[in-house]
Order: sequence, then C-alpha cells, then structure tokens
Amino acid sequence: MYPWPFLLISLCLPFPIIATDQWCYDSQSAKCGPSTWKNNHKTCGMNKQSPINIVTKKAQFDGALSPIVFEGYDKSDTKWEIRNNGHSIQVNVQGDITIKGGNLPNTYKAIQFHFHWGTNSLPGSEHTIDGKRYPMELHIVHQNKKYTSLSEALNQPDGLAVLGFLFEESSEKNSKITNFIDILKYVAYLGNKTWLDPFPLSSMIPEEGELDKYYRYHGSLTTPDCNEAVIWTVFEETIPISKSQLNAFSETLYFSDSKPMKLNFRPVQKLNVRAVYVAGSAVRLFSAVKLSVVLAIWTSVFN
Ligand SMILES: *[C@@H]1O[C@H](CO)[C@@H](O)[C@H](O)[C@H]1NC(C)=O
Ligand SMILES: [Zn+2]
Repeated sequence: MYPWPFLLISLCLPFPIIATDQWCYDSQSAKCGPSTWKNNHKTCGMNKQSPINIVTKKAQFDGALSPIVFEGYDKSDTKWEIRNNGHSIQVNVQGDITIKGGNLPNTYKAIQFHFHWGTNSLPGSEHTIDGKRYPMELHIVHQNKKYTSLSEALNQPDGLAVLGFLFEESSEKNSKITNFIDILKYVAYLGNKTWLDPFPLSSMIPEEGELDKYYRYHGSLTTPDCNEAVIWTVFEETIPISKSQLNAFSETLYFSDSKPMKLNFRPVQKLNVRAVYVAGSAVRLFSAVKLSVVLAIWTSVFN
C-alpha cells in the first residue's frame, strides 16, 4: 500500500518519545514502571532503598528514640503553593517549620509534603506494616539545616528526614483535611498550581501526644533518583480519612501522561543489612511491669 520509507518513518516516530528519561508507575505503563527505574537512575538499584515492609516483631527497641520535637507546626501565617508534579500532589512549605529530637542528628526544616494513594478499591501506602498496605501515605519532607541546598542534602546520608503518616479509612469525614481535598480539582493536571489558604501542619497529623511510637530506619527517596539520603520516621498512629475523601484523589487527579493518578506508590524494597528501630515501646513495657508488680503484691497480701 505505502512505499516502504513511509512505513519506516511511521515506525520510527514513537521512539524519541519512549527514549526520553521518563519514569512512571506501573498503573501508567510497565515500560517505565518502578522495576525499570534503575536502568536510568542507578541509585534506585542500590541496597538501602525505600519504602520497606516494617516487620514489627523484628523492630529493635531503641531508647534513644525520644519523641520528635515539632516547631512551627502550629503556625498558619503563610499561603503555600500546591501543585500537580505529574507523579503526586505536592505542597511547597514556607516558613520556619522544623523538627528535632527523636535521635535525629540535627534540626531539619520542612520543605514540602505530598501523598501516595491507591484506587477506589485498592490501598496505596508506600510503607507496609507486617505486610498490610494502608489506603494512603503522607510524606512530610525536611532538609537538614546544615546543608544550604536541597541538591547538597540529597548527596548526604543525613540530608533529609521524612515523616511518614499512614491513613486509615474512617466512617466519618476528616474535617481537618477538607480544605485540602476541595482544592484538588484546581490541580488536576501536570503543572497546575494554586495557593492553599493558610493552615497549620499540625492540623493534618495526629496530636503530638500520640506520636511517641514510631519506626526508624535509613533509606531513600521513593522516586527517582532514589537518593539514599533519608532518615525515615514512620508513625504507628494513623490519620483518619473517609472513603469519599480518599476517592477524591484517584478520581480528580491525573498523571503527566493524563492517565488517572492512582497507585502512585513504589513497591517495598529489600531491607538487606539494615535494621528497623522502634520508639515508644518502653512506656508500655514499663506499665506492664508495674502492673504485674502491683498484682504480685496484691496477691501476697490478700492470700
Ligand atoms: C491545568 O492544566 C491543563 C493542562 O495543561 C490546562 O488545560 C488547564 O487550564 C489548567 N488548569 C488550571 C486551573 O490552571
Ligand atoms: Zn513520598
């Protein structure tokens, strides 16, 4: 039908698009999904990668893991930019909002937060706990104050501290995140951005008193270039979210290729030689010991 040069050209045309260094999730295309990331981003194939499955029984108690100290988390004096970056929805945080303590080697400044989620019926957290995947995960990314730029921090093993919060489905709407959900429709596509009305970061996460139990390990960014620069803190206490609030993410947002933005999580990576540490068990263990001592005394006195 067509002379052969035509056929050749039509066969060749798609290649420049495929050949670009685009990474994606499997829900977009297996061709650029997480198992291929290491081809163009070597670090993604290294041995301290994130996320991981946290095996609670194997987590080692570490008494140095004091509660994280949150500073500026209650401030709400700045409008932050929310944008669709083609892989997730990201809020760039301004102002002096920091964390320290929790055996972190320094004070870390909040720079952005974003989410990972599933579909209407499948969960989409990145970290799993004893094999359980949660509906959604919030990552608040902090940069070590001793590094002046993000690119410098990304090349240091203590460059970033990321706080991971898992969501759990609730029957009630979570009124603290409605402002956020309502704005998703304005950032449906890659490059769309708008401003959020000021709100404190603390309003999104559980009360400080509920954050003493967490898991700690050294890992990486969960997206290319997968830099092994992250001190991870994953909290046991979850954030409630209703089914309709959850669905708003996968039903409103689109990836850079205009496919529905869903299942934007990286599969769990091998732990290899790393350990996972756990904070906050001591209080519970201590109460258990106290209770058994009281019971023993009670029994000896009254028998
Ligand atoms: C979002 O991006 C799309 C695609 O580039 C564009 O057509 C649309 O106008 C943008 N919407 C807003 C609210 O900026
Ligand atoms: Zn993330």
